[in-house]
Amino acid sequence: MLTSIKENKLTNKGQELGMMYFRVAIILFGAQLVMGLIAAIQFLAPGFLFEIFDFSVARMVHINALVVWMLYAMIGSTYLMLTDETGHEGVAIGLGKLGFWVLTAAVTVVVLVYIFVQVGPGKESTLWLINEGREYIEAPRWADIGIVVVVLIFYFNVFATYIKGKKTGIMTVMVANLLALAGLYVAGMFYTDNISMDQFWWWWVIHLWVEATWEVFVGTLAAYALIRLIGAKREVVEMWLWIEVLMLFGSGILGMGHHYFWIGTPEYWWEIGALFSALEPVPLIAMFVHVLYDWGKEQGIHEAKGEPKSVITNGPAMSWLVLNAFGNFLGAGIWGFFHTLPQVNIYTHGTQFTAAHGHLSFFGAYATILIGMMYFGVQKAYGLERMKSTFKSKMGIFFVTFGVMGMTIALTIAGYEQVLVERAEMGATWNAFFTAQSLPWYLQAQLWRAIMGVVTFVGFIYLVWDLLTIGKNAQDAEA
Ligand code: HEM
Ligand code: HEM
Ligand SMILES: [Fe+2]
Repeated sequence: MLTSIKENKLTNKGQELGMMYFRVAIILFGAQLVMGLIAAIQFLAPGFLFEIFDFSVARMVHINALVVWMLYAMIGSTYLMLTDETGHEGVAIGLGKLGFWVLTAAVTVVVLVYIFVQVGPGKESTLWLINEGREYIEAPRWADIGIVVVVLIFYFNVFATYIKGKKTGIMTVMVANLLALAGLYVAGMFYTDNISMDQFWWWWVIHLWVEATWEVFVGTLAAYALIRLIGAKREVVEMWLWIEVLMLFGSGILGMGHHYFWIGTPEYWWEIGALFSALEPVPLIAMFVHVLYDWGKEQGIHEAKGEPKSVITNGPAMSWLVLNAFGNFLGAGIWGFFHTLPQVNIYTHGTQFTAAHGHLSFFGAYATILIGMMYFGVQKAYGLERMKSTFKSKMGIFFVTFGVMGMTIALTIAGYEQVLVERAEMGATWNAFFTAQSLPWYLQAQLWRAIMGVVTFVGFIYLVWDLLTIGKNAQDAEA
């Protein structure tokens, strides 16, 4: 991944820019995990780094780094596929590179301020310079504006290239969806001192990102990847993509009601949220079926031609893609559905159950496919016809997945205990909140989460090691 900076076999500058985004993404992913480990230890030993690096700070950096590395990897993936899809080498890639450096400098400053300044007084200046205090998208206002400018450059690049080049179905969905995705960010920038109104708009960003526009983005990536990794037919893939878009937006947009149950919004949101969000798993299972169907079909055609070798041209990328298809359904679809009806959510709301779902969904739906795209980028950078999984690729995917699944199960148990003790038995009082958190089931679950966090981290080390070496080794082996 690193040696691909100077000498690489990429055919155009857009793909080089894509790889630059990937490198920063993986560093931020590492930072995310370190912060998660600190926060996890603080659950077990509340005095750990107290008043030096408090839980609130570790948690904030953990989830902001999560969102930012994913956005980086999404931009990287888009640049990677832009030329392939449009047949055009990319408009204004030089400007895109400038945007990359400006964004990366801004992110670095924001992270340093998060870590060293941490919090400020309750004044306007804190909003502008330190952080905005909106979970997941806490960047201070100056950085918000910078982000908007850089994203406009990125979007201009994608849009202008699309207009000048071939207009495939995949690119059409990509261009329309990216406009919505970027535009929604602005909904999180309004300032109001009414907390209900603030949350109302904040969910437009968070929910309409992860349950509408990001999901459609994953649909376009998966469509592109299936064509490239196993030679799936474009007509079939694009037909699925249109259906997925319809179902994802059809359920996901009004599904937002599942966040409007208890924040002071009108009660009709109970019915709307329950109905539409309950439909959200449907497209996710469809996406899973789609990937397996295409894979089986292409392998079958391949074998019928008397070529029994695997149809897959990039082992690790395909493994992560299949994991994505299943993880999206499991983390978002199943773990989301568990608590999406108001009758259930009244008990589970804000317990560790939410955190269990948050981990498995972000991992299953997004981390997986974005890591897959990184492997695909490495294959391109080294000009490899085929790239097989190595021992390290397998250890990476195994430990990361096992770790996240383990954390999810531990948190689900902690959430279950909270529902029983804190909510059902003790009636959600202040006292109940603390009692539930001091009982053995809760504490043991938190211990297991920390252990499984370490397992995840071991997997991450393997993953990075593999990304750094797999291309070079495969190239040497080919030669
Ligand atoms: C990949 C897609 C998804 C991601 C990344 C995701 C992520 C998250 C996260 C991080 C939260 C916690 C937000 C907070 O900090 O308050 C959350 C909440 C929630 N999610 Fe999802 N989610 C996804 C899909 C779904 C789906 C498909 C459903 C329903 C079928 C669902 C149902 C819910 C509900 C009901 C809540 C509120 C939990 C509470 O009351 O505390 N999610 N989601
Ligand atoms: C080393 C592994 C990890 C550890 C130890 C860890 C630990 C934590 C901790 C302690 C929190 C705060 C929970 C709370 O406020 O109760 C948290 C929140 C969160 N983490 Fe992680 N994490 C890890 C990896 C990940 C990964 C891989 C993802 C997703 C790809 C992720 C996504 C999230 C999300 C979305 C939240 C907010 C959840 C919510 O408030 O509902 N984490 N994590
Ligand atoms: Fe949601």
